[in-house]
Amino acid sequence: MSAIKDIIASRRSVYPDQFIDKEISKELLSDLLSSATYAPSHKKTNPWRFIVLTGDVKTKFAHFLADTYQKVTPADKFSAFKHQKVAQKPLQSGAVIAICMQRDLKERVPEWEEVAATAMAVQNVWLRLEELELGGYWSSPSLKDYFREFYRLEEGQKCLGFFYLGYLKDPVSVKKEPLHLGGYVHFVTE
Ligand SMILES: Cc1cc2nc3c(=O)[nH]c(=O)nc-3n(C[C@H](O)[C@H](O)[C@H](O)COP(=O)(O)O)c2cc1C
Repeated sequence: MSAIKDIIASRRSVYPDQFIDKEISKELLSDLLSSATYAPSHKKTNPWRFIVLTGDVKTKFAHFLADTYQKVTPADKFSAFKHQKVAQKPLQSGAVIAICMQRDLKERVPEWEEVAATAMAVQNVWLRLEELELGGYWSSPSLKDYFREFYRLEEGQKCLGFFYLGYLKDPVSVKKEPLHLGGYVHFVTE
């Protein structure tokens, strides 16, 4: 087992064209997503809601994305390439997880804290992919705003994107070197 520092540094976005055609079992997905639930949240609102799409439902979702793209895109902006691509991602994936957030109905904390807590839960999941020999990434297309037409979201819930995941075609080729640091850390000395 690698040190947490190395696991954090080697986490990467891995895209569906790098996945093999293999479903991820419900047992493995449950194990993976159990790590999400340890994320911190203000007032313990535990706002993350993960909607897992596998098997035939994943295919239904691929058609839904393609049809919705066609429906909401003005004719002069329509791209046949994108139409095909939105459907391809779920079909290439071993599972799709819709990342959803439950707004506290009493609004005891600001919404950004619930988005932040959900993102921390996603990071927990993302960090475990390597151990499970999986790859994946968080996709946030504008089509996410239509997810409620595919799956009934409860009051106060919002979809923040889709996590596409799958078994890797070539685990070795997935870049593992730590990337350069972005953002910055500034030690204030006076
Ligand atoms: C909230 C969030 C949304 C993202 N949405 C997209 C997306 O819509 N399309 C995409 O290609 N990558 C998306 N990404 C992945 C980032 O592009 C990726 O994390 C970034 O390029 C850094 O690469 P790395 O994850 O391999 O370190 C998203 C990442 C986050 C955290």
